[in-house]
Parts: sequence; structure tokens; C-alpha cells
Amino acid sequence: MAFPDGFLWGGATAANQYEGGWIEGGKGPAVADAIAGGNNLTHEPRKLWVDLPDGTREVITMGQEVPAGATAYIDPDRYYPSHDATDFYHHWREDLALFAEMNFKCFRMSINWTRVFPHGDDEIPNEEGLKFYEDVFRECKRLGIEPLVTLDHFDCPLHLADEYDGWVSRHTLEAFERYCDLVLTRYKGLVHWWLTINEINVCGDYFNCGVHEAKSNKQHREQALWHLFVASAYAVKRAHEIDADNRVGLMIAHGASYPYSCNPEDVWCELENNRGFRWFYGDVQVRGYYPSYKVKELECEGIAIAKEPGDDELLREGTVDFYSFSYYFSEALKADANRDLGGVPGLNKKGVENPYLRKTDWGWAIDPLGLRIVLNQIWDRYQIPLMIVENGIGLIDEKLPDGTVEDDARIDYMREHIKTMRDAIEIDGVDLIGYTPWGCIDIVSAGTGEMRKRYGFIYVDRDDEGKGDFSRSRKKSFYYMKKVYGSNGADLE
Ligand code: BG6
Repeated sequence: MAFPDGFLWGGATAANQYEGGWIEGGKGPAVADAIAGGNNLTHEPRKLWVDLPDGTREVITMGQEVPAGATAYIDPDRYYPSHDATDFYHHWREDLALFAEMNFKCFRMSINWTRVFPHGDDEIPNEEGLKFYEDVFRECKRLGIEPLVTLDHFDCPLHLADEYDGWVSRHTLEAFERYCDLVLTRYKGLVHWWLTINEINVCGDYFNCGVHEAKSNKQHREQALWHLFVASAYAVKRAHEIDADNRVGLMIAHGASYPYSCNPEDVWCELENNRGFRWFYGDVQVRGYYPSYKVKELECEGIAIAKEPGDDELLREGTVDFYSFSYYFSEALKADANRDLGGVPGLNKKGVENPYLRKTDWGWAIDPLGLRIVLNQIWDRYQIPLMIVENGIGLIDEKLPDGTVEDDARIDYMREHIKTMRDAIEIDGVDLIGYTPWGCIDIVSAGTGEMRKRYGFIYVDRDDEGKGDFSRSRKKSFYYMKKVYGSNGADLE
């Protein structure tokens, strides 16, 4: 069976992990640029760099948390993976040509907010930055590739984080609205597919949102989240007003979630966790209001969100056209588990190992059938088109002297997941419209800042110390995906 006509086969990236050129062409720093190679999943006190009157500098420790390895200022003696990343900024023509060779119909990327507005809230935008993306989109068009553009992929401007505490502040929301207006207008006719806020359900901390006390201060977290929902609704509404042909999706990290056993305590635990971590975010962005269980939770915990007149209406007006999500793994939930899995993104503190599944080197359970389960659950709940905008396996790849990489484990992973997508469409009738696997070309890991955790079908010569010449080479999986895409999913062997 081939996939439906017009199915959007492609690949996905994000500017903060791929683009590089961090202060070239007038770009300003974003939060990711102040996170040294390290681990975003554990946190430590924020340190500030202060210029003293005698010309020296002092580092002071603040009572706020940032990811371990984040400096929240740029120290010239440290290595920051996002500064060069894998250098799309200088390799975009070559990369787009490789994607076209792989038969991409769609390419997911994000606009770097600080390439357009260097501080996030400048009066005048940076024309050189705007021109950069225009050139990229024009080249996509020439190659017959639809750009799928994320407006905010873990990309808070450093200035807004430092001065306004990121998305806790209404100022950040207003700055984002101006940025949206500008790019939606500027790229009218060149881009028709948009995503609003990447993985809005994991957003809230310094890395994602520039918020300093997200882990310890739920009031801040919920306020920032409200602003993100309003921002997303604003983007949807404006995208539709500016161009009736625009299609806008949400973006949620949506792994599969199972009760560990048939013990009703485990079933309830799973329901409550899945609802809180995943469904809540879809419910708001597809239906346009906070569901009753969330309203009750906020009431019980005495959390009052500061809203402005018109916010609630905007949420209702800005519901999305399609549900797009990342799928990497599943988790099993146990009511009496008291185990912290050490910050694996998406895995809950009540998560336990699933004895039926294998794991990657980074502890992510490999579960292709889980994808079919999730596709069915989302389709049953919302009945709007679905798109998988991230999926893939992080592996340690070894480049052979001839430039190739024998990544059979990646091919197996892709094949098994695409088969369950096919089943969901063919047998279950799910309206799945596209598939953009993550890190179609090697990029920096968001969770750990590593280069050695690679997802790509194209190898990039760059390592964890910042060494390498950025040369690109085709992995074995490149040829596999090319065949799959070229046959519209009919040839999976
Ligand atoms: C998603 C993010 O969480 O997963 C990406 O949207 C991220 O930015 C991807 O890179 C894979 O996670 P990691 O930590 O392996 O890079």
C-alpha cells in the first residue's frame, strides 16, 4: 500500500540546534547560545557575570536555577554547541539539495527569533536575517519542498530572559506577537505550513522559555504557559487572517503512556499523568479553553493566572488546523513507584521500565506499536488531521573512511515506525497527513547538548569538542529513506 497522495514526507530540524551563525548577519543571542555543552536536564544556580569598575569581571551566584552547563552569559573561554551547531547558516543550499535528493516533500525548520529581532523586542527588524530565511524558502519552493516552519522552537531571546524572566512576562508575549505579524506577512505565499510553539508541554524552564524559577515556582510556570497558549492562538488567528491558505498546527511531545498493570491504582495514575502532561495541551489548543480538571487543579492550589481582556476569546478563536507531535518512546506508569528517572524528557517520576521493550543508549524505550496507539488515541479524541513532526532514534554513529555510516539500527527503527503509521492509515482510518523525522541531518541534541547523539540520515563532521569541518556525507539510512519517500511509502523493505 502506498500512502495517500500528497503525503508530506520530509525531515525536521530547529534553528537553535542546527543553524549556527549565532551572531552573524546581525543575529542576537538566544538562551540556547548561553548554554554550554552539557546537560539541560539537571539544574544548578544561575550565575551572572558582572563588570566591575576596575575593568575586571566577577561571577556571582543568584538564587535562580538554570540548566547545568548554562552560564546565562557568553563566556569566550567555553564551548557552546549552538554557536555553530551544524552550520545550516553556511550550508543551506547544499543541505536542501540533499533533502531534495532524498525526495523530501516537506522540510521542517524554525525561524530563529533573534535573527529577525536581535533582542526579541527591537523597534526595527534585522533585514539581513529576514532575507536569509526568504532565500531559504525560495530555494525550497524551487526544489518542490514545502517548508513547515516552527515559530518558536526552544528559542527565547537572551535579552527577554535576562530582563523580563522570559515568558512569565506579558512583554515577551507582546514581542512574540510583533515577530509573528512580521514573519507571517513577509513570507506570505512562500510558507503555508506553520507550527506555533515547539513541544509546548515541556516548555516552562530556562532552556525552553527563559524562565528562571520554573521548577520551583508553579505560579511562574503556569503564568508562562498561559502566555504561550495565548501566543499560539494569536499566531493561528493571524496566520489565517494574513493568508487563508495557511495551515497551522500545535506541537506536543506525545509519547505513548501505559498503566504498568491492571491495578486500578496504576490505571488512575496513568490517566492523571497522561492527562496532565499531554491531553491538557491538546485540549486547550484544539478546543480553545482550559478543561475542567485543569481549572480545578489551579483552584485547589491557589494559583491565579493574570489574564488580559480578550485572552479567553483569543484562545477560542485561535484553535489549530492540525495536531502535530513528536513521538520517540513510551512510558509505563506505576502508582506506588517512587523512582526519579533522572530527567529523561517526557518520562514521569512515576515511570518504570517496561519489561517488554528495548531501550536506546539514552534510555528511551523503542515502541513502534506505541505510535499506532497514540495516533488512534489522538484521532479519536480530536478528529482533525495529524502530522508526526518528530520521530527517530539517537545513535552513536561511526563514520567509515569512505564517509558512509552503516546505521542499520536506524533503518530498522524507521521501517517499524512507518509500518505502524501505514496500519493506522489503512486499517484504522486515521487522517495522518505527514511525517518529518527528527534531525534528518545531524544536529546538536536539545536534551544533552551532545553531538554524539545523532539522528540524521546525513552525517555532519562535528564532535562534542567543537572539532570537525562540517562536511556532509550520506549514511546508509539516507538511501533507505530516499527509497521509501520515492515510492510514497510503498517500498519499506
Ligand atoms: C524534542 C525536541 O524534544 O526532541 C527537539 O523538540 C529535540 O528539539 C528532540 O532535539 C530529541 O531530543 P534530544 O534530547 O535527543 O535532542
